Amino acid sequence: MTSSRIACVAVLAFVLTATSALCYIVTDGAARRQSASASASHGEAQTYIVLVEPPPAHARGGGEDDQAAHRRWHESFLPGAGEGGQRPRPRIRHSYTGVLSGFAATLTGGELDAVSRRPGFVRAFPERRLPLMTTRTPGFLGLAQGRGVWKEARYGEGVVVCNGQGCFESDVLAGMDAAVKDGVDVLSISLGGPSVAFDKDPIAIGAFGAVSRGISVVCAGGNSGPMPFTLSNEAPWMLTVAAGSVDRSFRATVRLGDGEAFDGESLSQDKRFSSKAYPLYYSQGTNYCDFFDANITGAVVVCDTETPLPPTRSIDAIREAGGAGVVFINEADFGYTIVLEKYYDLPMSQVTSADGAKIMGYAGVGSPAGSHTATIVFNSSVVGVKPAPVVAAFSSRGPSAASPGVPKPDVMAPGLNILAGWPSQVPVGDGAESYSFNVVSGTSMATPHVTGIVALIKKVHPDWSPAMIKSAIMTTSSALDNDGHAIMDEEHRKARFYTVGAGHVDPAKAIDPGLVYDLAAPHNAAYICALLGESSLRTITGDSAATCAEAGSVAEAQLNYPAILVPLRPGLAFTVNRTVTNVGPARSRYTARVDAPGCTTVKVEPAELVFKEAMERKTFAVTVTVSGRDGGGAGGGRRVVAEGSLRWVSRHHVVRSPIVADGSVAPKSAQKV
Ligand SMILES: *[C@@H]1O[C@H](CO)[C@@H](O)[C@H](O)[C@H]1NC(C)=O
Ligand SMILES: *[C@@H]1O[C@H](CO)[C@@H](O)[C@H](O)[C@H]1NC(C)=O
Ligand SMILES: *[C@@H]1O[C@H](CO)[C@@H](O)[C@H](O)[C@H]1NC(C)=O
Repeated sequence: MTSSRIACVAVLAFVLTATSALCYIVTDGAARRQSASASASHGEAQTYIVLVEPPPAHARGGGEDDQAAHRRWHESFLPGAGEGGQRPRPRIRHSYTGVLSGFAATLTGGELDAVSRRPGFVRAFPERRLPLMTTRTPGFLGLAQGRGVWKEARYGEGVVVCNGQGCFESDVLAGMDAAVKDGVDVLSISLGGPSVAFDKDPIAIGAFGAVSRGISVVCAGGNSGPMPFTLSNEAPWMLTVAAGSVDRSFRATVRLGDGEAFDGESLSQDKRFSSKAYPLYYSQGTNYCDFFDANITGAVVVCDTETPLPPTRSIDAIREAGGAGVVFINEADFGYTIVLEKYYDLPMSQVTSADGAKIMGYAGVGSPAGSHTATIVFNSSVVGVKPAPVVAAFSSRGPSAASPGVPKPDVMAPGLNILAGWPSQVPVGDGAESYSFNVVSGTSMATPHVTGIVALIKKVHPDWSPAMIKSAIMTTSSALDNDGHAIMDEEHRKARFYTVGAGHVDPAKAIDPGLVYDLAAPHNAAYICALLGESSLRTITGDSAATCAEAGSVAEAQLNYPAILVPLRPGLAFTVNRTVTNVGPARSRYTARVDAPGCTTVKVEPAELVFKEAMERKTFAVTVTVSGRDGGGAGGGRRVVAEGSLRWVSRHHVVRSPIVADGSVAPKSAQKV
């Protein structure tokens, strides 16, 4: 515990981008990601992650190192040759001792039965393949946006990172396990599958193990937005990250023959492209530009896209047909979010669907062919773009499906069109050229920014728990953009809590938050009891003797979280308690300032907190009373959510917690237990 201690970071990452691999089942206005989690099957057998108790004392010792003792204990669960039929004796693929006690092995149903009958068996689940939401080979492991000042001492050791179809959970868990044993301070997890109950999610279980050992776990919230209930990695012990834009634009302005100009973007900044007027071509019959039934030689072609990234086959078709350039119109869902990724070998600009509609209007209607012209003006990267940040359309949205009473995501960080270090052996786009940098998007790009901030805080405050660090990042985050307005979503509407979380990260403030909401492992255990029950408690904590009688019970709303989520029901008065720890000046005085969510009144008791010592704790109660008949309820299938905030303000600090009142949160999930 010295100030020279270097925070170590393990990065388990692949690049998640919002591409055509996203698929949805739409029900009742909400969307769930289609499960890409089909169990990995290998003929009859499949890989299971098997949780077992730690080895009993008599299985250890004998001069053997601990790791070997664990492995031998894990092997003792496997059926011997012959027992499993014709198959050879199954083998352990991974043996876990860092974040949990267990192993991964490929087993038939019969073999699994045998394993589950051994004393010490806790639980087994078939592993999922965590889907890759990218068209590119995973391999990114870098961060070029110079915020982090940490040393990635173990950089690369935790890499698992996956093949073209995804990452297997057992492998990801092995990376986490190794990183924890290596003594890292932060785990950065930029992958995740669809939401499942925490006791069936090895990543959530592994993260619980890591956080219980004082290791922060920062996770990508997912790239399945903008529909609700699309978050991954939502456990309250994880720090769940949303993605936003930065104030930079790779500008490619489309200038029409009538003088109108639209600021699109492109990574192919073709400065040789002449700004002369080209014929502008758009046809509803060939609007996806995969084939042409007209002569487009020398024309700038306007194309619609169904995916965030323009398809390579359209580029090829245009080039082969002799097109001079292309304007790609964003899919409508993506609003103002323009995802850039590839270096295309054709002058092009990607524009928003709103701008695209105007360009189409000009190109398409009622004039003789050839009389409409356009050009593309390339203007490199423009900085200082406003408004920024804006939430990226692909950033996954809350509420959490696994735990709707815990407000998620936690914070937003830069994740749209991020300049990133790139392994030169991984091809970029369709070209054979190699690059050491690329521009990439995803909550997986936002996650390492937050990981860096965690490492920074850990370095300054080595004794802070993961929950204290997370609280510092959340309560100091900014709710405003660089225009001074509330941060907006991809449609340029005010971003909701379930979209942006507490706000956009602010590293300089996060180091000195004034007060923090701490949350120790026993709180999480009591929360698991209330949400999932005793058998899940045993699975997640890996302690087969744990009981809820001992652990207690804490409802979702009562967890000492740095954001507040209460049910919204007419006439309901709902109280949550919170405890803050003074990490600012020993003697300080804070006053509560409340911005009450619409149709509610909020009372904070006491309304003033006076601290006399460092690390002193104070508890207060927040009562949200819903007024009127209109308040709350999910009438007519509409989701009613009102938002406000509680700020504790002292001379030097503002400690801000969002207050979310949600009509679809069942009072029971929030009740005092
Ligand atoms: C297509 O248009 C170009 C440019 O206007 C012209 O040079 C060429 O001859 C045309 N090709 C055909 C097959 O009509
Ligand atoms: C290019 O960008 C600069 C700086 O942002 C701006 O002053 C200039 O007007 C832009 N030129 C065009 C053609 O958009
Ligand atoms: C909240 O705090 C008040 C007093 O500060 C206490 O009476 C009450 O029992 C607490 N509620 C819970 C759920 O802990």
